[in-house]
Amino acid sequence: MKKGSVLVFGGAGYIGTHTVVELVGAGYGAVIADSLSNSEASAVEGVRRITGVDVPFEQVDACDEKALRGLFERYPFDAAIHFAAFKAVGESVDDPLKYYRNNLTSFMNLCSLMREFGRPDILFSSSATVYGEADVLPVTERSPRMPATSPYGKTKQVAEDILHDCCAAYAGMRGIALRYFNPIGAHPSALIGELPRGVPQNLVPYITQTAAGVRPCLSIFGNDYDTPDGTCLRDYIDVVDLARAHVAAVERMVQGRMKSSYEVFNIGTGRPVSVLELVEGFEKANSVEVPHKFAPRRAGDVPAVWADTELAAKELGWQAERPLEETLRTAWAWEKHLRGME
Ligand code: UFG
Repeated sequence: MKKGSVLVFGGAGYIGTHTVVELVGAGYGAVIADSLSNSEASAVEGVRRITGVDVPFEQVDACDEKALRGLFERYPFDAAIHFAAFKAVGESVDDPLKYYRNNLTSFMNLCSLMREFGRPDILFSSSATVYGEADVLPVTERSPRMPATSPYGKTKQVAEDILHDCCAAYAGMRGIALRYFNPIGAHPSALIGELPRGVPQNLVPYITQTAAGVRPCLSIFGNDYDTPDGTCLRDYIDVVDLARAHVAAVERMVQGRMKSSYEVFNIGTGRPVSVLELVEGFEKANSVEVPHKFAPRRAGDVPAVWADTELAAKELGWQAERPLEETLRTAWAWEKHLRGME
C-alpha cells in the first residue's frame, strides 16, 4: 500500500529525479511537475526505468498559477516539494529579475494553493548559500544567515522566510527547508544525473567533462586561500544521500513528528574537502586524468563552508552514507553514459 503521495515541482531536474526515485523506493507515490526549462523529458524516462513505475509527469510551469491549480484539482497528493528554481549564481547577478520572478513566484503560488486546498506539508529546497561567509565552522542551523552575495542566494533566503511566515500564520501549514551543501554524483544505475547546459559552472560536471575530453583543462579558482592546501573547502554530498534526506523529511511531516510548524536542516556530510583533494580523488577513484591548472579566485566564492549535521541525524534520523570515492565513480559513470563512452 502507498504511504502517501508527493507532488514534486522541478521533479525532472538533477535533485528532483533522484528524490522521486527514493520516494518511490520508500513506498510513496510521486507526481513529477516540471516546465523542462532547465531539464529534459528523458530524465523522467530514467526515473521510470529505475523504479519500474510509470511515474506521472506533467509539463507545468509553477509560475503559471492556473496550470498549477489544475494539478491540485487532479491529484490527491499529501505533500509537495519545491525544486523548481533557477540556480546559476552568475546568471542571477546578470539578470536578477529572472531569478526573483521565477524562484519566488513559483514558490508563492505553491504555498498559496497548498493553503487553499488544505494540503499542509511543504518541503523547500534551500542552500548553504544562505550562510554566506560564516564566522564559525562548521555551520549549524542556528548560525546566522549572512547577507546573500547574489540574487540567487537572496531568493533562497526570502523563500525560507515566506515558508516560515506562512507556517506561523496559517493554522495547519507545515514546512521544512533543507539547506543543501554541494550535491554531486549520480544514481548508481547511471540512468539519471546532472545535465548541465553549456559550460558547467559547478566543479564536478566540469571535472567529468574535462576527463571526457570535452573541456581541455579545469581551472581551479584560487590556491591562495587560508586553507590547508590553499584551495576552497566544501562539503560534497552524494545526490542519492541527499535524495534520501527528502524522504526522511517528508516522513517527518506527514507522520506529524515535527516539533514546530517550520523546521530547517543542514544536509551535508560534515566533512570539508578541498577542491584539489576532490580533483585528485576523482582521478584516483576512476583511474583517469583531469588536466588542471590554478587560476585566479572566482568572485563571490567563500573560502570554506561545511555542515554541522547533528540536527539532521538526531531529528530526521538521516546521515550521509556513501563514501566520496564511490560518489566520484558514479559521477564519472554518468558522464560516460552521456557521452556513449561505455
Ligand atoms: N571551482 C573551480 N573550478 C570550476 C568550478 C568550481 O575551482 O571550474 C571551485 C569553486 O571555486 C569552489 C568549488 O569549486 O571553490 C565548488 O564550486 P561549485 O560551483 O561547484 O559550488 P559552490 O560551492 O560555488 O556552489 C554551491 C551551490 C550553489 C550555491 C553556492 C553558494 O552549487 O547552488 O554553493 O554557497 F549557491
